[in-house]
Amino acid sequence: MKNLLITGGAGFIGSHLVRRFVTKYPKINIINMDCLTYAGNLNNLKDVESQPNYRFVKVNICDEEAVNQVFAEHKIDGVIHLAAESHVDRSITDPMSFIKTNIEGTVVLLNAARKQWGNNFENKLFYHISTDEVYGSLGDEGLFTESTPYDPRSPYSASKASADFLVRAYHHTYNLPVVISNCSNNYGSHQFPEKLIPLIISNIKQNKALPVYGKGLNVRDWLYVEDHAAAIDTIFHKGKLGETYNIGGNNEWKNIDLVKLLCRIMDEKLGRNVGESEKLITFVTDRAGHDLRYAIDSSKITNGLGWSPQVSFEEGLEKTVSWYLANSQWVSEVISGEYANYYKQQYENR
Ligand code: NAD
Ligand code: DAU
Repeated sequence: MKNLLITGGAGFIGSHLVRRFVTKYPKINIINMDCLTYAGNLNNLKDVESQPNYRFVKVNICDEEAVNQVFAEHKIDGVIHLAAESHVDRSITDPMSFIKTNIEGTVVLLNAARKQWGNNFENKLFYHISTDEVYGSLGDEGLFTESTPYDPRSPYSASKASADFLVRAYHHTYNLPVVISNCSNNYGSHQFPEKLIPLIISNIKQNKALPVYGKGLNVRDWLYVEDHAAAIDTIFHKGKLGETYNIGGNNEWKNIDLVKLLCRIMDEKLGRNVGESEKLITFVTDRAGHDLRYAIDSSKITNGLGWSPQVSFEEGLEKTVSWYLANSQWVSEVISGEYANYYKQQYENR
């Protein structure tokens, strides 16, 4: 494969993936297609932007003409599709933008791939990046496997589930060579501070309230973002066409325990008295339809393709907190403007 399109490459996971592919595979041309929503930030890719095998195209994946043109001009033969509206809370206040990008945008890309590839699927691949949220919510026991029935419960997860079904449908109907992975919660550097971990780090630093939804008893399975990028690399090269792979960290945390852990790490880093940051914890009105627990069974990718997480939570959190503290300018740039209004609407009087 020569010309690989990565969509959403200016976002959190996308930028880690672009960096990995540009540096590890100099013979593959990486074309990063992103329309730079509030979540897209080209500063995330400063270190690779001048590499000869990297191009950025500012294109909205819903723009059929522009997408077709990129496929033709760059002779795209592979796609890793990450571009999406990704924040559950925003999907509750504005579902339509999720329907447009996550469903319609995915179909535009699928059609463009069909148009470009015709019936010659040799060395072609459409790899769709999805989420564990399509499986719904677990009780105290059990894990999501690849055969867990879909039961999406937020506009975000329903839009991702629809996209997954469409990708599968294009495989069954048109033989399009596809693969899908469904991953658990990622954390690491360059994550937009609307998401729990960077939001808590940023608020502790600013001595602001730490909003914990409900009683903080919801459970998430956290995976370091570079481990996710490594899993995507593995599936891209070794995944079986038409298959789905679950990716998880085997690392479940109740939100309240995670927030307290971050408080302890930050107290130490900022030279505060033990317990000082915990005083900022504020329980707020729960997220509507808040899924209780996500947990992934990754045995298919581990046993079948040889991937497993390499970064412990302790090490990953240490790297993440250090990155946010060393990059306060990145944070202050992204939390100004549109995000300041969002934060006010989301958290004031909650
Ligand atoms: P993100 O919100 O940080 O980045 C999304 C990127 O997509 C941004 O650069 C944005 O500008 C771009 N984008 C959005 N709409 C677009 C459009 N219409 N056209 C072109 N570009 C557009 O998201 P993320 O957290 O990096 O997630 C990336 C993908 O991984 C998503 O598909 C998400 O569903 C999936 N995922 C995320 C997680 C997680 O924990 N963050 C876990 C599992 C799966
Ligand atoms: O599971 C994978 C999914 O993980 C991805 O598909 C999504 O793109 C990603 O956003 C993430 O979804 P979550 O809703 O789990 O992540 P978030 O960081 O928004 O919230 C994590 C948990 O923390 C969740 O139970 C809600 C809670 N929370 C979140 C925020 C932003 C709070 O208690 N307070 C907050 O302020």
